Amino acid sequence: MLKQATKQLAIQSMRSFSTSRQNNYKVTVCGASGGIGQPLSLLLKQNPLVTSLSLYDIVHTPGVAADLSHIDTKSSTHGYIGADQLGDALKGADVVVIPAGVPRKPGMTRDDLFNVNAGIIKDIAATVAKQCPKAMVAIITNPVNTCVPIAAEVLKKAGVYDPKRLFGVSTLDVVRARAFIGEALGVDPQQVNIPVIGGHSGVTIMPILSQCQPTFKGSADTIDKLTKRIQEAGTEVVKAKAGAGSATLSMAYAGARFAGSLLKGLDGQKNVVECSYVQSTVTEAAFFATPLVLGKNGIQENLGLPKLNDYEKKLLEAAIPELKKNIQKGVDFANA
Ligand code: NAD
Ligand code: LMR
Repeated sequence: MLKQATKQLAIQSMRSFSTSRQNNYKVTVCGASGGIGQPLSLLLKQNPLVTSLSLYDIVHTPGVAADLSHIDTKSSTHGYIGADQLGDALKGADVVVIPAGVPRKPGMTRDDLFNVNAGIIKDIAATVAKQCPKAMVAIITNPVNTCVPIAAEVLKKAGVYDPKRLFGVSTLDVVRARAFIGEALGVDPQQVNIPVIGGHSGVTIMPILSQCQPTFKGSADTIDKLTKRIQEAGTEVVKAKAGAGSATLSMAYAGARFAGSLLKGLDGQKNVVECSYVQSTVTEAAFFATPLVLGKNGIQENLGLPKLNDYEKKLLEAAIPELKKNIQKGVDFANA
């Protein structure tokens, strides 16, 4: 009798383990042959939660997939090329990461990329709606502030929009803030915790230095300079690359971290927190990045606005009109 009850319990606990921890996910990278796509795919190939890595682009994916498939990690790698194969690339994906589209050259703003990249996001989102409507979708493509509302509208029209599953990737702003603060304080950047809220362009990027751990103390001028450096860090890389594109390696790192956090949340791991640009009621802007707790269904909890000091309240005042304009542009495009 006791033996049978023990066996029953063991079966039950195995069942609850297998339902709460799937440990078996398909990730699709759209734009996988690009400057971000290739190193991002390399990092995802090393993530033990990924069992199927699907690489989509309009060029070179057979080669990228063949190359990555020789790495001795458990995930299988598949390459898909051209619009005809987008559906197969996305079919059944749990997480879709999108770095497809053109990057900036010196002198351009992220908004200057809209004309090319908006259409790319619209097409990919329409296929996501058909092939993997429950997937977590993480958009890296710029202008992020506008591309995320475009995807939301497309998913809404298809009747599958879930605001808890659509994300604009602003992780690079957090990664940069940690790197610069770590350097300034002489501490390991991995020990730095700082919320970066708002959006992902110029004044909409708001590092909340007053909430930094360890505490960041500095004159008003030091804080202003550091804030502006974080806001303009993308342009710093664009200038240094002198026409050869924008941040790719640091973005691949940030994208792999964000996708990894989505997978941890899906997998039932606790206390997974990332800042990301999502549909929001935290401010007047319909999309806004704040710290989020990630779980099995995407956003489990929006942790809201961190406490802001007077300087940061002014940053917020400057960001909101810009964000609203960027968002409206996306909504208008998707509904045109
Ligand atoms: P890239 O030109 O090196 O690569 C882009 C890739 O997208 C190319 O391989 C291209 O073939 C592919 N592509 C183009 N049209 C496509 C389509 N319709 N479907 C699928 N793939 C398509 O550019 P990159 O440096 O990798 O940058 C990609 C995007 O990421 C840019 O828009 C850039 O501004 C953005 N970015 C965002 C952040 C961020 O923090 N969110 C950081 C860096 C770059
Ligand atoms: C970045 O912040 O590096 C990206 O948004 C790319 C860019 O154009 O700056």
